[in-house]
Amino acid sequence: MGVKDETYVGRVRHVLGSQVTVELDPDLAGIAPIYKGQLQQIGQIGSLVRLPQGMVDLIATVTLVGISELTLGPGPQETSSVGERWLQVQLLGEIDRGTRQFRRGVGSYPGLDDQVHFARTEELEAVYPHPSTTHIRVGRLSSSESVSVALDVNKLVVRHSAVVGSTGSGKTSAVASLLQSFSQGHWPAANIVVIDSHGEYGHALANHASIRSVLGTGVRRLHVPYWALPAADILRAFAGSSGGPTTQKTWATFVADARREFVLGASWLDLDPSAVTADTPVPFDIRKAWLRLDSENRETRREKQDPSSVCLEAEGSAETLTPNTYLPNGPGGKPPMQNPLFGTHGSTPELLRLGLLDPRLSFLLEPAGTPEGPDPLVDAIDSWIGGTKPVSVLDFNGVPDEAAELAIGVILKLLFDVAIRTPNGSEGIGRPSPVLIVLEEAHRYLGDDAAPIAKNAANRIAREGRKYGVGLMLVTQRPSDLPDTALAQCGTIIALRLSNSADQGKIRAALPDSIAGLAETLPSLRTGEAIISGEGLVLPTRALLDRPNPLPLAEDPSLDSWRTGHGTRNVTPAVARWRGIYEQENQ
Ligand SMILES: Nc1ncnc2c1ncn2[C@@H]1O[C@H](COP(=O)(O)OP(=O)(O)OP(=O)(O)O)[C@@H](O)[C@H]1O
Ligand SMILES: [Mg+2]
Repeated sequence: MGVKDETYVGRVRHVLGSQVTVELDPDLAGIAPIYKGQLQQIGQIGSLVRLPQGMVDLIATVTLVGISELTLGPGPQETSSVGERWLQVQLLGEIDRGTRQFRRGVGSYPGLDDQVHFARTEELEAVYPHPSTTHIRVGRLSSSESVSVALDVNKLVVRHSAVVGSTGSGKTSAVASLLQSFSQGHWPAANIVVIDSHGEYGHALANHASIRSVLGTGVRRLHVPYWALPAADILRAFAGSSGGPTTQKTWATFVADARREFVLGASWLDLDPSAVTADTPVPFDIRKAWLRLDSENRETRREKQDPSSVCLEAEGSAETLTPNTYLPNGPGGKPPMQNPLFGTHGSTPELLRLGLLDPRLSFLLEPAGTPEGPDPLVDAIDSWIGGTKPVSVLDFNGVPDEAAELAIGVILKLLFDVAIRTPNGSEGIGRPSPVLIVLEEAHRYLGDDAAPIAKNAANRIAREGRKYGVGLMLVTQRPSDLPDTALAQCGTIIALRLSNSADQGKIRAALPDSIAGLAETLPSLRTGEAIISGEGLVLPTRALLDRPNPLPLAEDPSLDSWRTGHGTRNVTPAVARWRGIYEQENQ
């Protein structure tokens, strides 16, 4: 054995493929020696060690730590004497001494008794790329905080990624900090759309993002036109359900008629009206379709089978959502009689009317589109991608879950449909300028229970997005609720603390086998600490993620008021806001 230097930690005792067992030097105090004034965390799972081999340094990560009197060493029994401390390390790659370049994979394996050293900052810096025009910083190494961890932007954006972690583990903060780096760094013309279901990101990105919210006013208001949805989903969004089979069929007919009528009159649309169906995304007047449905549900006639013998008492108005009133049907089979479809639609027409009046859903009513043009979808999609801002936050806070899911489905579907059709060499979104969609609460849109429009769109982007320049960043606290195919498509996984064992299992299965030891640390990670693995990073790594500045509105509520307040609680403003829904309705 050569002369021990300060970085020496032990020697190789056992080599099994890329698994190497290292006997720690008995002179080493503890497993965290001090080098150049800094504690070296060599005994930490995920720390890197160096095995000099001629012109290269092999780089390996610590996967297991033990003492042979407590656990049986993984090597042959006779190699472990009593009290011996050992590390098991996994070979990952090598650094060329001449060029200081790191590459994955090893050319030659270490021999017995070869020296093992902890990796110094200069080796770590050769391994981990620096933040640059191609790499974006996300944090620093947990085991050596002076070394930055930066991800390959290209891989991160178009190869999809997942940010997973139990509630409060720091997912939203991690994503907010990444988005801040994008908008303030080398990517002023990035194309990132954040689906923000809880209204958390606006605060962190105020200066560099276009923020649109369903509760906002003027240019800050988010619009998702209802007419971009298929007929059945329109009913689901406003009435809460799509009704029985007869209602669905009738509604589809009325919507198709209304869409055709619009197409006939619109100068900016060059569509064959006979090709228009209930699901063609062209504008139509939903109020008129509602009045038809509602009337069918109430109409009375002098002759049951004769539509011309209607007993109208007072004409309603589609514009003001006032129903027609009809004479009540006569007693004992005498006229007026109920029309054959009387009551078949149950409460659906009334629920639809209330939905159309609900201010929480008014974001679905615009842009309405006019026969003279311009094309309202172009403006809507422009507003979703945030104009010239690098990041666009679409805040759905305050929308009932069901409607939000449908609206988000429409946005995902349209962005993807547009990206597919963007010609090469044009300025649109897609291959010429990839778009990254950050999907908070991703399990809600990809999982089995999601509304079909959202589920289909999100899964389709996960499967095919890469080809068309649409990247997904799935953010979820329930990775076990994501379909396997979606997680398998994620090139990069950022896994924060996970306490649920089903979730841990899912992520462990998605991580490479070589870092099984690292995956075992998932439940004990600190807040804001993550295991990052995949194409975006040279090596699977445990990293402390940067905290965003400013923070997202994701802080845990403070309990200061429990100590310093007076115990009085005024709920009047909250009740007024809640009731506001109904007051506005009557304006
Ligand atoms: N890198 C970090 N360092 C220290 N504290 C952090 C870090 N990241 C987040 N936190 C803190 O952890 C708390 C939770 O963070 P955050 O809201 O980002 O978690 P989350 O995983 O998105 O939670 P949820 O699943 O509930 O949305 C916040 O109080 C935040 O300030
Ligand atoms: Mg969050």
